[in-house]
Formats: sequence, C-alpha cells, structure tokens
Amino acid sequence: MCGIVGAVSQRNIVPILLEGLKRLEYRGYDSCGVAVHQGGGLKRARSTSRVAELQAQADQDGIASGTGIAHTRWATHGAPAVHNAHPHFSAGPAGSAEAVGQSVGRVALVHNGIIENHDELRAELKARGYQFASQTDTEVIAHLVDHYYNGDLLEAVQQALPRLKGAYAVAVFCRDEPHRVVAAREGSPLVLGVGEGHGENFVASDAMALAGVTDQIVYLEEGDVVDLQLGRYWISRLDAQTGRYAAVQRPVKTVHAHSGAAELGPYRHYMQKEIFEQPTAIANTLEAITGISPELFGDGAYRVFKDVDKVLILACGTSYYSGSTAKYWLESIARIPTSVEIASEYRYRDSVPDPKTLVVTISQSGETADTIAALKHARAQGMPHTLTICNVATSAMVRECELAYITRAGAEIGVASTKAFTTQLVGLFLLTLALAQTRGQLSEADEAQHLKDLRHLPVAVQAVLALEPQVIAWSEEFARKENALFLGRGLHYPIALEGALKLKEISYIHAEAYPAGELKHGPLALVTAEMPVVTVAPNDALLEKLKSNMQEVRARGGQLYVFADGDTAIESEPGLHVIRMPEHYGALSPILHVVPLQLLAYHTACARGTDVDKPRNLAKSVTVE
Ligand code: G6P
Repeated sequence: MCGIVGAVSQRNIVPILLEGLKRLEYRGYDSCGVAVHQGGGLKRARSTSRVAELQAQADQDGIASGTGIAHTRWATHGAPAVHNAHPHFSAGPAGSAEAVGQSVGRVALVHNGIIENHDELRAELKARGYQFASQTDTEVIAHLVDHYYNGDLLEAVQQALPRLKGAYAVAVFCRDEPHRVVAAREGSPLVLGVGEGHGENFVASDAMALAGVTDQIVYLEEGDVVDLQLGRYWISRLDAQTGRYAAVQRPVKTVHAHSGAAELGPYRHYMQKEIFEQPTAIANTLEAITGISPELFGDGAYRVFKDVDKVLILACGTSYYSGSTAKYWLESIARIPTSVEIASEYRYRDSVPDPKTLVVTISQSGETADTIAALKHARAQGMPHTLTICNVATSAMVRECELAYITRAGAEIGVASTKAFTTQLVGLFLLTLALAQTRGQLSEADEAQHLKDLRHLPVAVQAVLALEPQVIAWSEEFARKENALFLGRGLHYPIALEGALKLKEISYIHAEAYPAGELKHGPLALVTAEMPVVTVAPNDALLEKLKSNMQEVRARGGQLYVFADGDTAIESEPGLHVIRMPEHYGALSPILHVVPLQLLAYHTACARGTDVDKPRNLAKSVTVE
C-alpha cells in the first residue's frame, strides 16, 4: 500500500508534506520518510516511528525546501527498517561514465505498489554497477530512472516505466532539476493537486492529503505520467500506436475533501469514537431516504434491476462480511440468488459468467486493489451491470461502477472497521428492498414496516452501546486468553466472523468463527476451560438449535459468553455468561449484534495494551494485491 505526497513550490513545503503523511497513515504506518532538494543536493529523514518523530528529525536536521516527496510505508518487500523506508536515493554506478562528477544521491523516489519483476531488474542494475542499500522492490525504480537520466527527468521516467511489471504510483525528483517532480500511476491511486499560489503543484495518494492546501484535484488515470514544475503541469501517457508519450487533458475537479483530522473528544481511541458514532452514521446514511426505489442507487437503476436475476458480491475483509450478511437478506427478502466471493479469490477463479448478474462491490475506501481488480475481471467476463456500496464518493470504485450507494459513515480512521460496516449493512438492506420491489416481492405494507425498522436503528444502536460496562467486565477475562471461538447461525454467522476478525486484528488473540452446527465437526476438539466461546444468540428460528450447540460446549467444560435477546430463557450460571440485548430486531438484528462484539474486541485490546487504532502489520486501505 503506502501513501505518497510530493510538491513543487516557491515556499517551504515540508510542513505540507508531513501533514499529508499524517492523513495518509491509513495506507500504512510501519515507517515514513521525506526527501527534499536542498543545498544543491538531496536531503532526507526517515523513521520507523510515526510521522511526529519524523517531523522532529526533519526540524533537527533543518530540512526545508520548495521541492520534495514524502512517504508512509506498509512493508511488502523488506522488513520495516530505516534502510527500507522511502524515499530511496540512487546514484550513477561508481566508476561508470555517467557517475563522473556526481555525488551519491541523484534521484529520490517514493513508491506505492509492487514491482513484480524487481529481481530481474535488480540483477540487471547490479551488473551495471548499481549498489543496493535496501531489500525493497522500490529501489530498482530509483536506479532505473537514474540509469535512463540524461538531463531530463520526465524522459528518464518515461523510459523507465515500460520496464516495470506490476502496480505502482511513484513520485520522483532529481538533484539536477531543482524545481521539478515527476509522478506516475499504474494500478495504484494518485491525484494531482493544482496549487492556488506560490506557483505550486502537488501529487498525493488521495485528495484528503491535500485538504486545506488545494481543492483543485485531477484524478490521474492508469498509465498517466505527470510533470510538475513551478506554475505548470503536464500530463502524458504512452500512445500504444506510436509507441511515444503524448499529452492528455484531464478535468480539474473541485473536491471538498475532509482532512480526516477528527478530534478524539472524550474517547481514548478513534475506534471507540467510531463505535459510538454508529447511531449518527446510520442516521446520516438513511437521511435522504423517504421511500424505497431503485433510483436510490443512481439513474437507470430500475432498468438494470429489471435486467438481472442474480447477484454476485465482491469484497475483502470486513466488507466481505457485510456482503455475506446481505446474502441472507437478498435471498430471503428479494428472492434473488446471491453469491459472495472474496475479491482476491474471484479475480483468479475460472468462474462461469452470467450477463444477467448484478455485480456488487462493497468497500469502505473504494480503493482496495483486489476488489477493483475483481470488478474489472467480472466486467471483462461479460457482466456489465455493476453497483458499489462505498463510503468514499470520489473513489476509484465509485468512478468504475455503473451504480452506487454512498454510505455516510464519515472518515473512518481506526484500522479496524466499525461504523463503515454497519452503514454498509444499511446500504445493503436498502438494496435488498429495492431489488425486492423491482421483482414484485415487496408489498407497500412491508416497505413501510422495513422503513420504520430502519429509522429506529439509530435509537436501537444507542441502547446497545449502553451495554459497554457489561462488555468491559467480560473483556478483562478475554484479555488473559490466547484463543477464542465465535459461534453464530444463519444471518448471524457472518456477524460471528466479523466479531472474531475484530478481536484478532486489534487484540492479537487468535479467534475463529464457526456456524454453530459445525462445532461438532472439528472445533469442539479445541474446547477447554481456557477457550472462551462467544455465541451470538438472537431469538430467531435457529435459537433452539443454537442452544443444543451451546450444551455441547458446556458439556466439555467450555466457557460460554452469550449475547441473547431479552425474552430468551438463557440464564447466567457457572460457565455460562449472558448479556441481554435490549430488543429483538428481526431482519436487522445483525446490525445490532455486531456492536457488542466491536466493544468486546476494543476493550480486550485496551486491556492488553495494544495500539488499537494502528494494529501491527495492518493498514486501513490495501491498495496492493
Ligand atoms: C483492510 C482494512 C479492513 C477492511 C479491508 C477492506 O484490510 O484493514 O478494515 O475491511 O481492508 O477494505 P475496503 O476499504 O475495501 O472496505
């Protein structure tokens, strides 16, 4: 993944680069760095701590300039160490003709993505005398640009790019051209920010990184190369027919990106704040809804909905679990056959395409590389009808899809997704109702009842949040365990999966989820007094079956932690701990039941002292395969 910012200006841009990095930390945060053109050469600071530490280092070293690039990293090739942190520098190979008169550090480069042929390029560049200082795939690009450099950075980059296989967004500058940054994208996001003074122009992984600096944004397209200079920029791309780069025009859009710099207020972490923001996020997502109609998903949605007879949902991570939940709704309420696939699997699977499929992608960020690739794969297979449920209106996913529903969760900063998940579920429930209506499966009375239930959700979630003290008491027990099992049935099985994901990603406790009926086919072997078993047990048609599964756990000495409805006859006793949910919620129950699981993960992680908002090895937005 990684985040990139770059700038050319007449003023010192280091504070802007570092502020941009802070806002891009959702893309990775295992190290960071900044490089500038200063004193006729290249200067940089790099750190394996957070941006605040980098800032202190840059201040101490007097790093200041009008030309520079910065990077926040999520390690793919090479451990998260300072020598692997970007920007990478290159130099002409010692002793070679082009090295004569050059000091070390001619080209500085930052990269987001993966270069698949880096081994081959590394061998070639080593043979040419280049010395490698890191284990990254990125460093080969810096050396390659250096190798092609002959007084014009744009030309050098244009020659280097066709040699790269893989995905990238890069930004690069050169010691010999003090007021120039060249950037390019192929498979990783990159925007151009057109400056509003100081002759300045910017590039960044997203518009949010430039909020407050410029709102004039150009969304670069795959294959675009942009040349930033003082007071001008120039976009070009390779013309397949002539084999030469030619100028292209891209529209400049006014984008009111939010800086994402939300205040924590009374909360300890963004994740806790975002859990508690769910009533508002859901209310905002439902705000404009006065009735159900396909047009909620965009113009022409009725025609599309009429033309499809199945749904294929593609997503990753938490978004995959919201899709898995929606499958139950789509099949039982809209009576439309639905499959849900992990995007990274689907994109390489030899599946059987059906043009009458509605392809639905779900993504908080709208930038997840596997989900975008899966969408393109589905379309290339001959499935033209695409719809996304997405939290970022300006994202690549929204631009790529025919139809969209934009959730209004607001910026989600904690890596572990919470309010994005519940608002996705709201969007998916609306999709279910709209498809049901188009297919003649929704009576007016049903529509009115579902809308009433949806509107009640913010209040209902608020009541669930009031369970926090009881959940905290459980979390103290969980903090001492190393494993946990989560059980659910039917509509609540994906909620059990999401609960296990939340716990493992932020508390580092190994957690797995099973549909409770599967317990006896393997996981029961793991059940001991040391294995807490969380059970999502709403009062639905499967409750009696679930109770039998719970008995199987109790009989083996397992400790049960049950989220039950108020009117369920499950009472606390030794080995059986019960928290009662305030109401019974029917079809919308998953949206409520996930909330205490989020709180359980959060408080367990706090009790274990982990970095809740930035768990180790993870990133908020995964823009690599
Ligand atoms: C990362 C995040 C998860 C998220 C997943 C999919 O793994 O840490 O929280 O669910 O990506 O992201 P998306 O933005 O496509 O929903």
